[in-house]
Amino acid sequence: MKIFISIYFIVLYSLFFLIQDKSLSKSIEDGYIVYEDFCLRCHGAFGQGNEEFIPPLNKSDFLNNTENSISIIKFGTKEPITVNKIHYSGGTMIPQGLDDEEIADVLNYIRNSWDNKNEIQIKQSDISKLDKPTL
Ligand code: HEC
Repeated sequence: MKIFISIYFIVLYSLFFLIQDKSLSKSIEDGYIVYEDFCLRCHGAFGQGNEEFIPPLNKSDFLNNTENSISIIKFGTKEPITVNKIHYSGGTMIPQGLDDEEIADVLNYIRNSWDNKNEIQIKQSDISKLDKPTL
């Protein structure tokens, strides 16, 4: 009997970890890998961008709008956007083929790197919920 009770608790314990979203710090850690592979070549190691063509992610006022931030990573944009009062023409930022978990991770990374800080965690479900571009 005891063995069954132990198995029951082990199964419950594992299920708990399966269902639970990962922690913010783990998401940021995983997001760093996504960033290095898919974003760094344009946005730079310090999220500084390139003044004329690529907007910064560090201290970007665009990131204050969570829906638009998810949308531009998930769907890209053909429309012009404004970041810290500078205009960018649109059309360069295309979807990188990331899954919802990778998008959540990379967003948590850029929202918490360099001078950026945002403790509100973006969850995988926030990404799947957004089913059309907001830009
Ligand atoms: C080919 C270069 C390129 C790559 C790669 C790229 N971006 Fe961008 N990104 C841009 C450009 C350019 C814009 C401005 C919109 C436009 O002109 O298309 C932009 C805009 C953005 C914005 C909104 C503006 C801002 O600066 O806050 C975010 C957020 C963003 N990119 C995140 C990412 C993330 C995350 C990745 C990696 C998954 C990524 N980008 C990969 C070029 C790129």
